[in-house]
Amino acid sequence: ASERSAAPAGAEVLVASNRGPVSYALEEGGTLTAKRGGGGLVSGLSAIGSDAEAVWVCAALGDGDREAVRRTGGGLDPGDTGGQRVRMLDIPAEVYTAAYNGIANSALWFVHHMLYQTPLEPVFDAEFRAQWASYESYNRAFAQALAEEAAEGAAVLVQDYHLALVPGMLRTLRPDVRIAHFSHTPWAPPEYFRMLPDDIARQLLEGMLGADQLGFLTRRWAEAFAACCAAVVGGTGDTRIGVYGLGADAGFLRERSQQEDVAERLSTLREQIGTGPDGAVRKTVVRVDRTELSKNIVRGLLAYRQLLAEHPSWRERVVHVAFAYPSRQDLAVYREYTAEVGRVAEAINSEYGTADWQPVVLHVKDDFARSLAAYRLADVALVNPIRDGMNLVAKEIPVVSDQGCALVLSREAGAHEELGQDALTVNPYDVSGTARALHEALTMDAGERSERTARLAAAATALPPAQWFLKQLRALKEVTPRVDAR
Ligand code: G6P
Repeated sequence: ASERSAAPAGAEVLVASNRGPVSYALEEGGTLTAKRGGGGLVSGLSAIGSDAEAVWVCAALGDGDREAVRRTGGGLDPGDTGGQRVRMLDIPAEVYTAAYNGIANSALWFVHHMLYQTPLEPVFDAEFRAQWASYESYNRAFAQALAEEAAEGAAVLVQDYHLALVPGMLRTLRPDVRIAHFSHTPWAPPEYFRMLPDDIARQLLEGMLGADQLGFLTRRWAEAFAACCAAVVGGTGDTRIGVYGLGADAGFLRERSQQEDVAERLSTLREQIGTGPDGAVRKTVVRVDRTELSKNIVRGLLAYRQLLAEHPSWRERVVHVAFAYPSRQDLAVYREYTAEVGRVAEAINSEYGTADWQPVVLHVKDDFARSLAAYRLADVALVNPIRDGMNLVAKEIPVVSDQGCALVLSREAGAHEELGQDALTVNPYDVSGTARALHEALTMDAGERSERTARLAAAATALPPAQWFLKQLRALKEVTPRVDAR
């Protein structure tokens, strides 16, 4: 210990992710404002306490972040991070953009979510190869920073598809450290994954297999990964594969959703929803998503339209509250999708709306307090992704719900593995089936609804974020380091 106080010996626990726990906005006049994020990793790292020296390595995402790195040399002010040590990497903007937009959010996200319209896309050409070189150098920047920051034998927890090459690169630089990688996305089956050029597919899998331990959200994604390894590189070698189903943070959600700002938004929403011709409060179908291609928002709207068409009795008696928060707007397909969501919502409103009833209330400005307010009042939650690693909205709504909520859930969401029993399951492509499920959900008996909600909430909180993180950390610490490479 005395040696350590003389010269910092490096961190014992390290987390690496593209998006860090804080981001900066550069105001006019040069002031930097820090905005802290939430999520599983933030609770996880705070749960390990101050016993172990921990550092979080992340990328500068925009101009504000880059300015913060310039001013601090990358070691962010703990006042901005809630005391967490954060090292932010200023990767050259064009390298970052090619790696993040080109490889991570186009090629890899599209492969794992099976989003390609195959007659036209993908096209793996020279531009893709150039982006791939950027992805490699972005991953190398992370591996180097981690190698510099890690104490002897440290535990390094690398996150997600942005950083698939980091485990292999770090293993070469620091054979003494223990490395884990966690995938927050689905994993594609081999017949889809192998759309990627063979050498790239191999590099991705070998990069990840550089880890001692790989984590996935569900058994299904873990099995798909193992099947890809069997098909492309002959197996998973010595790497251990585990399933860690990230759950909702009940304590945080219940407390946060009772705060004043949520109550204010709740009454605004109630006013917008209003009462039907019979004087009864209108029912609500709630969805909350990033405006993300995989979330299937448009088919959800079409299912709601079909419900109104086939069951005229629901007209003026139900409102679809849809929060679709802008995401990845640098990508044209995301911008187009966002516009399409707006168009379809508007079309439904002009087709069915009346003087005092707006069938779809669409909000696009991100507001967490308003999301919680919608969670509280939802009669029905619609979670119908084409494919989703987990989907935490499906887990959060039952926890926060005031009077019980029926869950319409896609069988392609990871959360379905744990919640399927008490949800109304839908095939996300089947708009008619989804419309039927909405009708069934809206007419579900109140007693059954609250019983199901209680069971959903219990299943949803089985592995809360702090435990999810600590479980992986404990498993990783059992690994015998592969020091023989020295
Ligand atoms: C998914 C990914 C995360 C990512 C998030 C938001 O959940 O697994 O790694 O941070 O989407 O996407 P963004 O591109 O805005 O970081």
